[in-house]
Amino acid sequence: MSFSHVISRDSSYSLKWQKYAGKDILPMWIADTEFRCAQPILDAIAKRIDHGILGYTLPANHEGANQAVQGWLSKRYDWKIEKNWIVWTPGVVPAFNLACKAFCEPGDKVLVQVPNYPPMLAAPAINQLERVDVPTIREGHRWTMDFEQLETLAKDPKCKMFILCNPMNPVGSVLSETELKEVNRICRENGVFVCSDEIHCDLILDEDAIHLPFSKMDNMADQSVTLMAASKTFNIAGLGVSFAIIPDAKVRAKYQSAAMGHMPWANVLGLTATEAAFTLCDEWHQGLITYLRDNRDYLHREINAIDGLEFLLPQATYLAWVDASGLGVELPQAYFESKGIGPSPGADFGEKQFVRLNYGCPRSHLEMAIERLKA
Ligand SMILES: Cc1ncc(COP(=O)(O)O)c(C=O)c1O
Repeated sequence: MSFSHVISRDSSYSLKWQKYAGKDILPMWIADTEFRCAQPILDAIAKRIDHGILGYTLPANHEGANQAVQGWLSKRYDWKIEKNWIVWTPGVVPAFNLACKAFCEPGDKVLVQVPNYPPMLAAPAINQLERVDVPTIREGHRWTMDFEQLETLAKDPKCKMFILCNPMNPVGSVLSETELKEVNRICRENGVFVCSDEIHCDLILDEDAIHLPFSKMDNMADQSVTLMAASKTFNIAGLGVSFAIIPDAKVRAKYQSAAMGHMPWANVLGLTATEAAFTLCDEWHQGLITYLRDNRDYLHREINAIDGLEFLLPQATYLAWVDASGLGVELPQAYFESKGIGPSPGADFGEKQFVRLNYGCPRSHLEMAIERLKA
């Protein structure tokens, strides 16, 4: 379990590394990490492969993976779910697009926080829906949602769904229980369905931040789905597996029927990996959180010491949302690349004066990035 170990990904077709292949630019963009998977995950996959047959496997019948999800949610979020609430999906992006299809009619409006993960910004239009932006505002040293705006926008009768992103990507805030109750009240009063993307929920770095799964709130069980995955935390995004938790039978049936014929089953190795991640990797997970917390604090200190840059300490994720407006350059992305660092362009998230840096990497990468930035 050495998160400091540098592993070359040159021969692995890594999308992150391919982007800058042949250039002296350190890739710090897309949200996967540079960390080797926990050994129990690799062992479980190897064992499954050793069996020799990789045929059709119905995810709902994969006892091990389903029990692992139940156990994980109970242990981490005190959320006791029934096995049949779990709907396996081959990724969270298809899962929220499916929610658009299942719970909205063409022409309806869908609320989305901005800035946000680009595929979430794109989802309404892909599904012939109109996107309505909920601004993110700064409160002291933390980003949060503009609840006043949310309330105003949700009142529009054409507004049918909110694709909630919590913990928030790219800003890294974890919505508190009070904030979520406010989302709950506004959406309930206005009949707005909530599709809650919680893919980053196992990456909470603040010791006093608590993640509350949206569909755990009883009064929203019939008006929400919660999307999760082991992929970000355990670095298995290439294995194509995620899951929705849908407590209400009618909502679940609607979601499953919208999936028919369009949505492939979750990958068999992904199910095996999820089972191992949620049952055998607690120590690795704790080590990861500690390492990421130190990376975050290091980056926070160093970035804020550079004139023209500002970075508010995120409560969760391995993503740093850096305000580069003080640099006075027109294109912060190009500026960072000229310094040998490849972030995600803030423009893709809806804020062109920002960049997003992925600090899910060995500390030596961060040190190199800071050295390059200061040069
Ligand atoms: C908020 C959010 N949702 C979904 C995803 C990707 O989900 P998947 O790879 O399971 O489709 C990401 C990846 O960065 C993300 O940040």
